[in-house]
Amino acid sequence: MLSHKKKKLKLETSTNISSIRFRDVTIFIIPIRIQRLRLEHMKKLARKKGFEITDIMSENVTHIVSEFKTKNEVLEHVADKLVINVPSSCEILSMQWFVDCMETESALPVTDKYRLPSEKREEEKNESSSTDERNVEKTEYKNAKYACQRSTPFHHPNHKLTDALEILEKHAEFLTDDHNNARALAFRKASAALKAYPSEIKMMNQVENLKDLKGGQHCKQVIQEILDEGFCSEVERIAGSEWYKIILMFTGVFGCGPVTAKKWFDKGCRSLEDVRKQFFNSLSREQKIGIEYYSDLNTPVRQKEAELIRQIVCDEAVRILPETTVAITGGFSRGKEYGHDVDLLISHPEEGKEADLLHKLLNKLKSLNLLLYTSTKENTYYESMYSATEPRKGHMDHYARCFCVFKLSKSAITAAVSDIDYVDSENTKNSPDNISSFSLHKKIKIEESVKNKDINTKQSTEKDISDNDLCLNKPIREQPIRDQPINKSDITSTSSSSCFFARRVDLIFVPASQYPFALLGWTGSRMFIRSIRDYSRKEKNMILTSHGLYDKTMKKLLTAKDEREIFQHLCLEYREPSERNC
Ligand code: UTP
Ligand code: MN
Repeated sequence: MLSHKKKKLKLETSTNISSIRFRDVTIFIIPIRIQRLRLEHMKKLARKKGFEITDIMSENVTHIVSEFKTKNEVLEHVADKLVINVPSSCEILSMQWFVDCMETESALPVTDKYRLPSEKREEEKNESSSTDERNVEKTEYKNAKYACQRSTPFHHPNHKLTDALEILEKHAEFLTDDHNNARALAFRKASAALKAYPSEIKMMNQVENLKDLKGGQHCKQVIQEILDEGFCSEVERIAGSEWYKIILMFTGVFGCGPVTAKKWFDKGCRSLEDVRKQFFNSLSREQKIGIEYYSDLNTPVRQKEAELIRQIVCDEAVRILPETTVAITGGFSRGKEYGHDVDLLISHPEEGKEADLLHKLLNKLKSLNLLLYTSTKENTYYESMYSATEPRKGHMDHYARCFCVFKLSKSAITAAVSDIDYVDSENTKNSPDNISSFSLHKKIKIEESVKNKDINTKQSTEKDISDNDLCLNKPIREQPIRDQPINKSDITSTSSSSCFFARRVDLIFVPASQYPFALLGWTGSRMFIRSIRDYSRKEKNMILTSHGLYDKTMKKLLTAKDEREIFQHLCLEYREPSERNC
């Protein structure tokens, strides 16, 4: 504990000593309920004005500022989450003190006006419950039952733990039976809870009572081992096993889920070349493309590249139908720098105008030689589906769409992404066995990129609406309409010397009135969407889909002009996309 404190003190070098004007004041801002950008701005401003702001709670802190309403909440938070007691001389203050100090550019004396009360005043209690952003139910992190009630940033301090749990999750998912699917979900929930944990976890007692961990002995053991030893032997063993590595590689093939991967393994395949030789005639179009362009499709897409693709699509779409909008969703809109594909929502301010854009746009993109693969599906949405007594498979996402593999010229990518570091020519032989997907996955982790890809596992189980993963799955299981034929010569050639890069792109065509729902659904993350749908159904008796929100009590569809309004209908605190990374 002592060495731990020393380390903390050593780290406190965030303010340049010479610029400090108020030497008796060291401020710690509790980052809860404060948007990241706002927090950064506050710290910058205070430092500029000569205040010492520390990022670490220690006995040197003289003033704690927070958005909490009571002193007790602060004390509890600091003891609980930051595992240190607040020094008795430390002032616990409202944000008002901070604001006034900034305004007057002075370290204002602390008066009762600024001190937080121990308990909430009666009138405040009533106020907060009645006017709180139209009855939004605010939930403290530790009490949150659903992941959608928590803020989950992409960057968090507990990757070591969550990475380990995700390997266990993936491993369980690869085993594909019901028991292991349930285990996978337990690992996923535990890792989601830790991703939202507001500080670095150093001791088991910080997390053992979290709702999503309470019953999970296995998860707790893993966490304990990592806290004690720095690693978990079970996770190391799994990650290093031949079976896991090969299934991971196979599920990296576009169109191959765990069931197919296991089949290939069980038939003796150990490399993609083995699969190509042994299964060529039974491979689906996706799988052929997936093997042929394995290297490209497993190289993370960068944000700038996603923007380049959006721009190309948008330019063509607007030429066909002026005022068409094309927006990037998925991981990129949650702040991820890399993705496994590019998810584009295409819409038009005038409802219905987007309807016949799909084919015109595809024809255009094909004529420009930009498409390697397409699988299209018409819009199959109808409103009465919500009132059907039994929710059905594929119930939720019925937009007209096209799942494509784009062919992007390397020179265009290089121009768009100046610091591109794709290994070129000699090293980019798309002969799949030249690279290992797991090394790539290690290099830059693409979250969830190979999850739930197999039709066989999913279509056989009719599940509850919120657990119905079909809506979240990629379309590899859909019967393609207008598909481009693929012949043997396509697959045996490699693109090692080619001048293009293959990229997965999903184009979703959304009528204006359903746009906020599509945006919410496609922004993800999968876990966030699963959780918000679960919450809607269990807590609000509503069905949330990527098309709309149906109130089962009122028996009516609710409209929303933006994502915020959907959260309001659900009495949920709004979460920015960057907070939905569970
Ligand atoms: P992705 O699988 O593309 O995930 O689905 P991602 O979060 O963007 O991550 P990477 O970086 O590409 O790996 C994006 C979101 O779209 C929804 C899911 O909720 C998912 O979170 N989605 C996906 C659907 O609603 N329907 C689908 O058919 C596919
Ligand atoms: Mn994506």
